Amino acid sequence: HTLSRMVVAIDGPSGSGKSSVSRGVAARLGLRYLDTGAQYRAMTYWMLQNKIDIADPAAIAADAGAPAIESGTDPAAPAISVDGHDVAVAIREADVTGAVSAVAAVPEVRARLIALQRQIIGIGGIVVEGRDIASVVAPGAGAKIFLTASEDARAARRNTENGGGAGTVAATREALTRRDSVDNRTNALAAASGAMVVDATELTLEQVIDQVARIVIHAAQGS
Ligand code: DC
Repeated sequence: HTLSRMVVAIDGPSGSGKSSVSRGVAARLGLRYLDTGAQYRAMTYWMLQNKIDIADPAAIAADAGAPAIESGTDPAAPAISVDGHDVAVAIREADVTGAVSAVAAVPEVRARLIALQRQIIGIGGIVVEGRDIASVVAPGAGAKIFLTASEDARAARRNTENGGGAGTVAATREALTRRDSVDNRTNALAAASGAMVVDATELTLEQVIDQVARIVIHAAQGS
């Protein structure tokens, strides 16, 4: 795995800072970047737009192949579109966040998006963030990171992202814990074998990027 062909898998729970870290590492090492969570969100957005019953897995499965999902891979300008429409902002709305776990649990959805992800990964040179990258999408990845942080740190981070005040941290924490437990049923929120665990609780973003970049460079030199 020379650095330019490296596949870097970054998995971990919501609010661990995966996206900022993954983009930062990709930018620093000159690699592409893929946010697989954004693809599950884009699929969910399409289902909501088309009035698919989110409580009906068979209905979701039947349409899993319908939306045309395109992901940009520039870490400086992450882009995602559905049927040609830019949905980068829409997929972060509360309705999508509330429904995405149910959509991501449908095997047909996962099969479709995993195939798309492998196509984008291609010959490598990419940082891929998600939940099942090291275990399922790219088990041969040259570097595997499991990024985690305490529940309090994750809730605080997510709350800041949402622009919320201190009073809503508890609510954010509750929503986060609920989503983790649903996510956990389909894709283990545990480190894959061979993954390096990085705990971001006491670290700044720069420090986490440094640590992950060092792991990647070491992996590239060691092979
Ligand atoms: O990382 P995120 O919050 O944008 O992820 C959105 C949802 O998609 C989350 O509920 C977990 C799910 N997901 C998944 O099941 N597999 C992935 N590889 C990435 C995300």
